[in-house]
Amino acid sequence: MRLPLLFAASGAIAALTFAARPAPAEPAAATGAIADIPASCASCHALTKPETPTVERLWTRKGPDLWYAGDKFNREWLVSWLQNPAPIRPGGVMWFKHAKPGEPRDTIDTASIEKHPAVDAATATKLADALLHLKGEGLIVEGEFKPEGVNLTMGQMSFGKLRGCVSCHQDKPGQGGVSGPQLHDAGKRLKPDYVLAYTRDPQKFDHFIWMPRLTLSDPDLQRLTGYIASLGKENK
Ligand code: HEC
Ligand code: HEC
Repeated sequence: MRLPLLFAASGAIAALTFAARPAPAEPAAATGAIADIPASCASCHALTKPETPTVERLWTRKGPDLWYAGDKFNREWLVSWLQNPAPIRPGGVMWFKHAKPGEPRDTIDTASIEKHPAVDAATATKLADALLHLKGEGLIVEGEFKPEGVNLTMGQMSFGKLRGCVSCHQDKPGQGGVSGPQLHDAGKRLKPDYVLAYTRDPQKFDHFIWMPRLTLSDPDLQRLTGYIASLGKENK
């Protein structure tokens, strides 16, 4: 099935400018930060936690939620991605809307996935700072991931054969499933404490998300997080 063009007016991005405002003396609260994010972004992304999550909202949303962006992204990655956005979800936000039936398996109609609007460096920095103020309450526990002594080989086995994460996520470009975000640059993109919290309980982030909640022991969570947090990093 083909979707109508979501990014019909990519030129509209040129209109994304910031109102000149004095730098706040203290970090802006989330509400202040939202005022710094253009309405066009909010037309595709939830910037505040949906009051009543519904499966309809999840299925019709145009972009992933950003209301917990501050819990999730590494700043350096965010600033760079906003200027030069590369696909994260190889199958789009809802992969089955872009799936083409085929043998032996369905493929993704990548031409139907629209390019993300890009912004210039100064705008990217301001946007990243605003986005990083958006946090959920009690979603992640800072410092919960303990990198010391984590066995990456065991983590890789867990990701692949043992827990089957690879059926929905890529840990190397082109290797793995397409119904979840790729994780092959997760070490640059995501905070390890977020990776751990999401893996433990995806429904805490969205009640209807189709990632299964597995019962994982703490050592297993640490290993999986260690492996995912190592992906895409230059110095492993
Ligand atoms: C027409 C809809 C649309 C607009 C407008 C839009 N985005 Fe997006 N955004 C998307 C989609 C779709 C994705 C998912 C891309 C992917 O996974 O490959 C995305 C992904 C993102 C991500 C990564 C999120 C994640 O969880 O991986 C960030 C950050 C982001 N957008 C920020 C912005 C900002 C800031 C603006 C405004 C300047 C904006 N977007 C405007 C649709 C949109
Ligand atoms: C049935 C498919 C499926 C399986 C199996 C699965 N996931 Fe996911 N995963 C998803 C989906 C869907 C999302 C959220 C998609 C979104 O934000 O658009 C997700 C999100 C994530 C995220 C957050 C990524 C991000 O960019 O926000 C992490 C980390 C993650 N999964 C790790 C794992 C691990 C570790 C396993 C194995 C224990 C696993 N997943 C198994 C489908 C899956």
